[in-house]
Amino acid sequence: MRVGTRHSARFSGTACRALALAAALVFLPSSLLSQARKNPLAGDPGAIREGASLFRINCSLCHGLDARGGSRGPDLTRGVWTHGGTDAQIFHTITTGVLGTLMPANDLTDTETWEVIAYLRSLAPKEARAALGDPKAGEKLFFGEANCSLCHMVRGRGGRLGPDLSRVGGERSPRYLLEKIRNPNVDVAAGMMPPDMEWPVEYRTVTVVTKGGQTITGVLRNEDSFTIQLMDNAENLHSFRKTDLASLVYEPHSLMPPFGPDLLTDRQLHDLVAYLETLRGEPREAAK
Ligand code: HEC
Ligand code: HEC
Repeated sequence: MRVGTRHSARFSGTACRALALAAALVFLPSSLLSQARKNPLAGDPGAIREGASLFRINCSLCHGLDARGGSRGPDLTRGVWTHGGTDAQIFHTITTGVLGTLMPANDLTDTETWEVIAYLRSLAPKEARAALGDPKAGEKLFFGEANCSLCHMVRGRGGRLGPDLSRVGGERSPRYLLEKIRNPNVDVAAGMMPPDMEWPVEYRTVTVVTKGGQTITGVLRNEDSFTIQLMDNAENLHSFRKTDLASLVYEPHSLMPPFGPDLLTDRQLHDLVAYLETLRGEPREAAK
């Protein structure tokens, strides 16, 4: 097949480049490497392999084993970059992290960082799933018929029972969003994350019964050894001393209702996800 011959023809060229590069790596001061604007290891099969294993160890926890998005980080294979898509910009993002988000600064060496970038570039972009939907229609649904804004805020507009979704498009993959809306209780992270990794549950549902016999279910906002605060469906904040409670139960389900096909058609679901994908927070300063 054509692809095969092209690949093997390229390989010897790459091997030469790899040799030249190995020599360069030995002699170049590392400061020069970090200033490289283009990935010196681009397309190098060895670098891609190394990058893949570095990625599994350092990044898959959030971005998923295959970089297609996990429970805590965006899909990195779509060719859409919130923080800039040039080699130098991605290098900068990986090294310094994104302030105010879960994306950490990394202490990979420059070579390792380029290897990870070579790996990311080697992953074929997935079909543009988000493009399946119409973000404008999704926005209307969000603030209208689907009632998402009852519980979720976007750019200061909406409710506060659930998490603020103003950055969710940069933080979550379309796959995660699709599954999450249909069934909030499904373990969306399963199969996207390395096994044995568990995140502390945020927005946990709790039910308390006071000694006076009052029952309240809400989202856990704060808890220490002596007190607990939760917010109910009407956004009332309740605060209790634990000694005043007859019982305290951590519910195994989300307070978000499932939006099955009876509530949202597939078309509407895709519109919503297309809209959520556009939510990437305030534009950040581009990497120099
Ligand atoms: C603790 C979770 C976490 C870890 C670990 C993590 N990331 Fe991220 N990463 C994120 C989040 C969340 C974002 C989205 C930041 C935002 O909201 O803009 C992100 C964003 C990025 C971006 C920018 C994407 C864009 O659209 O511009 C790149 C590139 C990236 N991560 C690469 C990596 C690499 C490579 C590693 C491993 C060396 C890594 N990340 C480790 C959570 C993580
Ligand atoms: C009755 C309140 C309520 C409504 C209505 C609601 N949600 Fe939620 N949502 C929540 C709560 C609470 C959470 C956090 C707990 C969880 O993750 O299940 C949540 C979590 C989410 C998350 C996960 C956020 C993340 O960063 O992981 C997404 C995405 C989301 N909702 C989207 C939607 C969309 C889209 C709609 C409308 C179709 C909607 N929600 C309607 C309460 C609600």
